[in-house]
Amino acid sequence: MRFQQLADCSLFTLLVVTASSAFAQPQGFNYDESKVPTIALPDPLVLTSGEKVVDAKTWQEKRRPEIMKLFEEQVYGRSPQPRDDMSFDVASVDKQALSGKAIRKEVTVYFSADKSGPQMSVLIYLPATAKEPTPMFVGYNFYGNHTIHTDPGITLSKSWMRKNEDKGVMNNRATEASRGTSSSRWAVDMILDRGYGLATIYYGDVDPDFDDGFQNGVHPLFNKPGQKKPAADEWGSIAAWAWGLSRAMDYFETDDDIDHKHVAVMGHSRLGKTSLWAGATDERFAITISNDSGCGGAALSRRRFGETVARINNSFPHWFCDNFVQYNDNEDKLPVDQHMLIALIAPRPVYIASAVEDTWADPRGEFLSGYFADPVYRLLGTSGLGTDEMPQVDKPVMNTIGYHIRSGGHDVTDFDWKAYLDFADKHWSAR
Ligand code: GCU
Repeated sequence: MRFQQLADCSLFTLLVVTASSAFAQPQGFNYDESKVPTIALPDPLVLTSGEKVVDAKTWQEKRRPEIMKLFEEQVYGRSPQPRDDMSFDVASVDKQALSGKAIRKEVTVYFSADKSGPQMSVLIYLPATAKEPTPMFVGYNFYGNHTIHTDPGITLSKSWMRKNEDKGVMNNRATEASRGTSSSRWAVDMILDRGYGLATIYYGDVDPDFDDGFQNGVHPLFNKPGQKKPAADEWGSIAAWAWGLSRAMDYFETDDDIDHKHVAVMGHSRLGKTSLWAGATDERFAITISNDSGCGGAALSRRRFGETVARINNSFPHWFCDNFVQYNDNEDKLPVDQHMLIALIAPRPVYIASAVEDTWADPRGEFLSGYFADPVYRLLGTSGLGTDEMPQVDKPVMNTIGYHIRSGGHDVTDFDWKAYLDFADKHWSAR
């Protein structure tokens, strides 16, 4: 069985992961591979009725909708359609940005007709030399668009931010000192040099990341009369953030400078969980990238390695839907596991990235969800993951599913971006 083969493969990686990093991670959780329980994963290719899925049609028409519904109702919560009164406003265009290298646009997406209500600002860089619509990467940032580059032309975010003095955040607001403080995570020059565009959004524009019973952000715009908060199977914050990425895609479809058929959605950590859910729910995203997404992202929940379902629900009660709480210390009862989230993205390319020292996110569990999604990818006629073994550190594998485990910790680095650009080149070469 594929499972058993995996029990002893890739000992090398396992040793590196265990030896170098367990101490930097939250204590009181399991970082010992030998203590991972024996797990029985739900089979993505067996219908709830027990019938096996042996062709692409049954996957598309029956099994995929079943799995989608389970994730919607039990994990992230169901999201609404956008409102009819949503609108876009191109707030600024500079054709000479970054010393003439880029076109910079800032686009405001108003989620309703009330222009003082919830809205997000999309920062877009396109290569100035582009002669055709540009393929894009889109991803959220943690502390405002102005943090991704020192470019003084980026509007300083006025939104609420989590406390962080290192990012120049004072009284939960950005300051001029915030500019460029996350630039190491955004390889803007590399992306432009390779002919791609980049769009980014501050995730807190869509829903500020704290538990306020869903009073702020986009949720209240969609309450039914008398409804105060989402029902147990309705969207938490991760689903709302993913929904916001789809609204960015709605805008891309209207912008002739953007090749909206070639947009890769990328996210790190909680925003990697978000990019996976966006890639699963919105088939307009041609590539999905998860950077160190961990629990509730690419990592298999049943392994209980590093962060667990109980811990994530207790620390971040607003991220998932209320039904997900039933699985605290009760992972075996989940009707899905995260390999099925990857399978929802099939047959579109997906890239899962881990980091050696990021044991909290369970690198091996992240790899395994790609591994166990592979049968779905192959049923749909793609090359799938194309390996049975977790690759060596810093050696990406790139088939329809891509994976790497990078040296270092929980972060986004140029190494990661180079891999994502190579992956996009590989899949989009015939563009
Ligand atoms: C915490 C959380 C993780 C999350 C991370 C992040 O560590 O436990 O699940 O991925 O924050 O988003 O930075």
